[in-house]
Amino acid sequence: MEPLGLRTVGSHCSLSEMDDLDLNRALDRPRLKIERKRSFDERSMSELSRHDSPRGRSVLDTPLSSARNSFEPHPMMAEAWEALRRSMVFFRGHPVGTLAAVDNTTDEVLNYDQVFVRDFVPSALAFLMNGESDIVKHFLLKTLQLQDSEKRVDRFKLGKGVMPASFKVSHDPIRETDHLVADFGETAIGRVAPVDSGFWWIILLRAYTKSTGDLTLSETPECQKGMKLILSLCLAEGFDTFPTLLCADGCSMIDRRMGVYGYPIEIQALFYMALRCALSMLKPDGDGRECIEKITKRLHALSFHMRNYFWLDYQQLNDIYRYKTEEYSHTAVNKFNVMPDSIPEWVFDFMPLRGGYFVGNVGPAHMDFRWFALGNCVSIMSSLATPDQSMAIMDLLEHRWDELVGEMPLKICYPCLEGHEWRIVTGCDPKNTRWSYHNGGSWPVLLWQLTAACIKTGRPQIARRAVDLIESRLHRDCWPEYYDGKLGRYVGKQARKYQTWSIAGYLVAKMLLEDPSHIGMISLEEDKLMKPVIKRSASWPQL
Ligand code: GLC
Repeated sequence: MEPLGLRTVGSHCSLSEMDDLDLNRALDRPRLKIERKRSFDERSMSELSRHDSPRGRSVLDTPLSSARNSFEPHPMMAEAWEALRRSMVFFRGHPVGTLAAVDNTTDEVLNYDQVFVRDFVPSALAFLMNGESDIVKHFLLKTLQLQDSEKRVDRFKLGKGVMPASFKVSHDPIRETDHLVADFGETAIGRVAPVDSGFWWIILLRAYTKSTGDLTLSETPECQKGMKLILSLCLAEGFDTFPTLLCADGCSMIDRRMGVYGYPIEIQALFYMALRCALSMLKPDGDGRECIEKITKRLHALSFHMRNYFWLDYQQLNDIYRYKTEEYSHTAVNKFNVMPDSIPEWVFDFMPLRGGYFVGNVGPAHMDFRWFALGNCVSIMSSLATPDQSMAIMDLLEHRWDELVGEMPLKICYPCLEGHEWRIVTGCDPKNTRWSYHNGGSWPVLLWQLTAACIKTGRPQIARRAVDLIESRLHRDCWPEYYDGKLGRYVGKQARKYQTWSIAGYLVAKMLLEDPSHIGMISLEEDKLMKPVIKRSASWPQL
């Protein structure tokens, strides 16, 4: 049995950083001070923290959380655990992942019978929170082996560090053996490699290490090499003038053309989080030292860039609205030459006086003002957002609840693209019509990221309200992949049923609320060495 809790960590490894422990300790104590005044209800984090931690479970069929008496377990929990276990994939006797969906209501399987790296993350967190780390360890090791295989699109060889988007177990009936077949984008729609997979892999390796205290996995030469290979793809020098990562459309959760090419917030936030996670696990020996130096420099530049140029609040919007264009030289204020006329009408109404968010994309003469859920939640979890920015993101969410949450948490992005814009930007994609799928659809899986962000900012009551919405429908609708419509009222046009990450996302959210100390697995405290550059905007009242 693996040791529980954190072991004392060697001097090279900062996994036991004071910061993270501080957070865990703080979460074990009442935190009345961090509760915000304008919350939906008056219940505070301290109420949540009084319950014992469910650490130390072994592999039993009944989840420990539902056996606890302090919270009345919702009947959906037991069903969710059963469904999650039904999705487990085994390879040569070991559990190695979960299928994307186990939807028996349709014959159209597509690639939902595979283990997707990004989809497995909430499953992994649910298992870790329930004390079942085996499946996570095997997943991490198997995907690492797959990283080693040769990957090509036609005659072009992909970088060595690329992690698969998904894999499946294939049975050879003649030899009577199983082997794993991976997809690195070479069979995916659009043929795009998943930039997010490698980042999620690193984030999960840290979550595993934090949760189990087992350092032996991340310290193996294989894991150290795997991390360096992933990061060498992103830290290589080239023609870039920005520290952000240049990406093709479709390289992340939004895996179809949606006009997010360039510098999408989802990837930048995951990149930042993966860099910080890697920094806490890399050994400073051999090429490790060089990698650590590169990471440190990049983090510095990346956080400055994101906090300055991606951040939008009322004050910033007003500044952009009044921008001069065609400025040359170092004194330019409008550095990327964004045309004020390109600001969409909706954003003026959408922006509250109090609150803000990281916009979807920033590049030359280009600002995508759309709000994206995943990028903003991960920015909070990773502390890419300063404490003030994190609070502002939550303020905006509360303020724009009807638009961003409506009847089903959570919109993947806001607003949707319609008409001519939809035609041009998506290439007339019939799956991404307005308020559907990636184009403003509502994805229950995002509940876990929302909940993590709520707990990190000390506002669990927001997550509770979202959980209530989920509990009123998700089980009745058979755990759909996504919902459609401006309010998220309709089960998605082509949504799978029994979508695993909808199920696991719910479980993670519930377990985080029951025991907020779990947040340490998937959150990083503010890096004190990186000074916040953004001051609270004028719209904020003094606290
Ligand atoms: C869809 C989603 C993608 C997900 C996959 C499997 O393609 O866009 O993010 O990983 O389904 O669920």
